[in-house]
Amino acid sequence: MLQLKKISLTQFKNYQFTSFDFSERVVAVCGLNGKGKTNLLDAIYYCCFAKSYFLKTDGLNIRFNNDGFRLETFFDNSKEQQKIVCINRIAGKKELLLNDMPYGKFSEHIGKFPAVMIAPDDVGMIMGGSEERRRFMDMVLCQVDVRYLQNLVTYNKVLQQRNSLLKRFTEQGKTDWPLLEVLDEQLVEPGNFIYDKRKAFTAALIPLVEKFYKLIAGNKENITMEYESSLHGSGFYDLLNNFRQKDFLLQRSNAGIHKDDLIFKLDGQVFKTTASQGQRKSLLFALKLAEFELLKANKGFAPLLLLDDVFEKLDDNRMQQLLHWVCNENEGQVFITDTHTDRLQQAFEKLQVNYQLIEL
Ligand SMILES: Nc1ncnc2c1ncn2[C@@H]1O[C@H](COP(=O)(O)OP(=O)(O)O)[C@@H](O)[C@H]1O
Ligand SMILES: [Mg+2]
Repeated sequence: MLQLKKISLTQFKNYQFTSFDFSERVVAVCGLNGKGKTNLLDAIYYCCFAKSYFLKTDGLNIRFNNDGFRLETFFDNSKEQQKIVCINRIAGKKELLLNDMPYGKFSEHIGKFPAVMIAPDDVGMIMGGSEERRRFMDMVLCQVDVRYLQNLVTYNKVLQQRNSLLKRFTEQGKTDWPLLEVLDEQLVEPGNFIYDKRKAFTAALIPLVEKFYKLIAGNKENITMEYESSLHGSGFYDLLNNFRQKDFLLQRSNAGIHKDDLIFKLDGQVFKTTASQGQRKSLLFALKLAEFELLKANKGFAPLLLLDDVFEKLDDNRMQQLLHWVCNENEGQVFITDTHTDRLQQAFEKLQVNYQLIEL
């Protein structure tokens, strides 16, 4: 079992220098708004992914008026202890070390310490644009297969070149199809790789999402999920060929895995436009727990589960169902934040689970 034993935060967000020791599998982090609950979960996430769950810009994680931060964690995986150090300086490169050895590539780190975060704003993944749902697929698949990220990086680079070329065609008033064809050939391999991975991933994910949705929401509602891709049913190279005229007119690439999406339906209706807030939250949990199960099956051990402000998100019944699964049926380590200490304590006592309470 993967277990986080200790984390030290130096000049990270609101933390000047603070260490936490984790003695239990279930850890409750309580405190009023602004105390640093989310920041603590993000620090844990950062050590697993070498980046923040919430912020794209690393520098924003540095405590105000400081010139860098440092995170140090100790993990136990039943065989040995592993130490991760992340250092970030305003001037200078980011550093990532495992057992005091610096990584050549950060991508080698991804997936070694799998974690799943569930945070209030994540419903954007269901309600927002397709980009967020692709990012969801990408984040899981990167943890499962190192080649996935490499292929994604290549794909995006070639796609960008292809789009600039299409723009240039219009600007210069002439087309150079053979040049476009060269880029198409470069796009096909990484595109097919990602498509195959996403297809297998969603095929495995769909029954799990349906199972978890039923578990959280009860048996009444019927949720379905579908992977949508322009690559369904046709080879990517032919597809690019067929779209050539349209791409030229619109000056960008209209077919490919960068257009993929996940479509959710509730009792046959489009989820986005019909679901209530509670149903959205249920679906979010179902998706994330399905992700968790797949990661667990792939790694052979449970990822860390980071639940931020989950009590704000569901009615008591759904909440109790969820906590039961998270604390009693799942054997991995879980961190749960809440503003109300007694609410969390009562819930755990009902479940008869050992837990550690940290009050900020
Ligand atoms: N870079 C930073 N430097 C110092 N404080 C920060 C920084 N970023 C955020 N904070 C502070 O962190 C606090 C929010 O912490 P957060 O973990 O979101 O609280 P909560 O317990 O409500 O989840 C705020 O008071 C905010 O001012
Ligand atoms: Mg918070």
